[in-house]
This record gives sequence, C-alpha cells and structure tokens, in this order.
Amino acid sequence: SDNEEELVYTVRAQKGETEIFDGTKTKTYGYNGSFLGPVLRFEKGDTVKIRTINELDEETTFHWHGLEVSGEEDGGPHSVIEPGEEKLIEFEVTQEASTLWFHPHPDGKTSEQVYNGLAGLIYIEDDNSRNLGLPDEYGKNDIPLIFQDKTFDDEKQLNYSAAMNEDGTIGDTSLINGTLNPKLTVNKEKVRLRLLNGSNARNYTFKLNTGDSFVQVATDGGFLNEPVTLNEITLTPSERAEIVIDFSQLNTEDELALINEEDGSTLLPFEVSDQSGEDSSIPEEMNDFSITEEERNLPVTKEVELFGMMDQVTINGKKFDPDRIDFTQEQGVTEVWEIYNKPDDMGGMIHPFHIHGAQFKILSRNGEEPPENERGWKDTISVEPDETVKIAIQFKNKGVYMFHCHILEHEDNGMMGQVKVE
Ligand code: C2O
Ligand code: CU
Ligand code: CU
Repeated sequence: SDNEEELVYTVRAQKGETEIFDGTKTKTYGYNGSFLGPVLRFEKGDTVKIRTINELDEETTFHWHGLEVSGEEDGGPHSVIEPGEEKLIEFEVTQEASTLWFHPHPDGKTSEQVYNGLAGLIYIEDDNSRNLGLPDEYGKNDIPLIFQDKTFDDEKQLNYSAAMNEDGTIGDTSLINGTLNPKLTVNKEKVRLRLLNGSNARNYTFKLNTGDSFVQVATDGGFLNEPVTLNEITLTPSERAEIVIDFSQLNTEDELALINEEDGSTLLPFEVSDQSGEDSSIPEEMNDFSITEEERNLPVTKEVELFGMMDQVTINGKKFDPDRIDFTQEQGVTEVWEIYNKPDDMGGMIHPFHIHGAQFKILSRNGEEPPENERGWKDTISVEPDETVKIAIQFKNKGVYMFHCHILEHEDNGMMGQVKVE
C-alpha cells in the first residue's frame, strides 16, 4: 500500500498450502500469501519503508537481489529475523528502472526456503522507463514471469529433501509464477516479458517454438542501449531479461509457445486473440550505459576463483565463514574484479556468480568484448568452466555484502564470500 508522503510496504514470510495440481494441496511458503510473492513497485527517488515480518517457524532474512542499498538493509545471512519477529527497513531507491527480485538468505537454508516458494519481483520505474513507449500494461502486455523447476513426490507434494541434490536441485516440472501448465493470452501487439530464472540450479534457454526472433530490451539492472535481436536467450539462476515479442508480426495460425531449448519442452503456450493491441514501440535508443576508457584500463584488484562441485565447492579455496571478511572495497570507488571458473578433473560446471548491493559492468569474457546483450547493468553472470570474466564494480553504499554462486545449494555449501565496503 502507498500514499503520497510515505511508501510503506509490509512483506510477511508465511507458510501455507497451495493447490499446484488440481485437487491436491501441498505445503509451501510465500510472501503475503501461500506461494511466491507480490510485485513490489518502486520509483527511482522514492524513500521506501518495508516492514518485514517472519511468520515462519524458522529463521529467515529478506534479501533484495540487485538493489543498491546499504549492507544493513541488504538482508544477507547476518540479518536474521527470528520466527515471530519483525524488522523495519528503510532505503532510498537510487538506481534506474529495472526488474529485480527478493528472496530469503539465511545461512545454509536459502535453497530450501526459495524452493518452498519464497521469491517475488521488484519493479523500479523512472522517467526514462515511462517515456520509452515500451509495452507497460501490467498483466496485459507487460508480463512478469518467474520460471522455477520443481520435483513433486508421488503424493504430488513439494518435497525439498527428496528433491535435494548437492549440485543444485533440478526438478522435472517447470512452474511459471507458481502455476503448472500455464497459458498466456495476448493481443496481436508487442508484448514485453520480464523473465526471471528463479530456479535453484537449472539454466534455462528460452526460444520460440517457431524459431522466430524477439528482442531483448533489458538486462538484470536496466535497459540496454539498443534492443538486441535474438533467437534464444540463456538465463542462469537469478538472472533476469526483459524481452519483447511482436505478436502482430508473427504468423498466429501457428501454435506459438516459449520453449525450453534443452529438451524442446513447452514452457509457455501463447493464445493470440484477434484483437490488435496498443501501438507500443521499441525505440532505437533506450539508455546511456557506457564503459569509460578509465574503467577499461583499471588493473585487476580482486581475484575470485570459483571451483568444485557438490559439497566440495569453494571460492579462492575457502568456504563461507560468517566471521571472515574476504575483501574490502572503498565506497564509491570502481574496482575491477576478475572471476575465474577453474575446471576440475571432470571438467567443471557453470557457476552463476552474483554480488550483492551493486550493479556492475562486464568488461570482458576471456579477453573479448561480452555479447551485445550483456552490455548493460548486471548483478549475476554466467561463468563457464575455464572462463575468465572481468567486471567493473562500484558500491554506492557501505556495509558487508555477500558474493556467491547462485546455484543455491552451492551457496549453502559455502560457495560464498564477503566484501566489506567502507
Ligand atoms: Cu539472489 Cu545472495 O542472492
Ligand atoms: Cu543478491
Ligand atoms: Cu556453483
């Protein structure tokens, strides 16, 4: 709820029951409801207050993934809220329009709590986002889509311990916004999809079943400078992308669907009505993201080596220790971090690398320019085995922030470190 003077939100972590399969309920967690959470809408420049309330029987935290706030408000593993307790947080929204999200972050329990349903989206809007002319009618041509894979047992119950895998829980059932077998009805118009890979571990490669192209307009932390035309897009856990599909240009005699490239399975079928929609556009220029010469020439001052699988995962040879600060960085000073994914005897695996409290810029991947659709603000990056990614990062606020692999089981297995910004 909001009013002119003050924006106060209430976000409760709750337990509940959800009918995912018709006629059967399963125990789930949710924010302000039984499964997943509301979309929180902020405006650049807002001062936001959030009453965070823990109505679970276990400890939790409220982490705002991608939001540039102080370490105090960030909701990492140090900000535990005990069952029955609440905490009021307050921050100013200083960053540009983007699609972020929120989820719990208690040490060792993040994966299970997210899996059980604790996740919601955050939309930040600003003057630019409102004036671009992109589709922006919520639920009509501007659609939030949270993709998560789950495993259900024979009784159709969501059962984390049964599904759990040390390398990340890969489910056999994809839910979109918590819904099994969803369908999206759209008009013959441009439709913007805000995609979040909210899975614990699965990478999703999205494409249209017809092979038609679409355009990507935004990355994790803001708009791209120009729309990028793609035939498919891969998101590792916690990455977001906003894409626009132009249904007025597609052959709607075909059955259209968003599919999972990995196995060709249908994720989201579209039903296209005969109605033509509003006349939105995709402008050629959307943002002024840039990487300066100075940033390109900065020396590497932080090295991060991702290594291992299962419960053997480490960062720089170490496991998370809540009492150890791994790095320090000065507030407002840009540094270059070099992230390397060191292969093991088995070859290794992709680790999605995330840093709290800041949006960063990818300078290079293995010494080369990143692909066009990564030339924008990011807070999570996919790092392939034997790949080196250089990023330029500046923290606007102070505090202790986590950096970690966003395969949530890797995070819980200790693939996480802390940077103290002072
Ligand atoms: Cu999605 Cu530590 O974060
Ligand atoms: Cu985060
Ligand atoms: Cu990992």
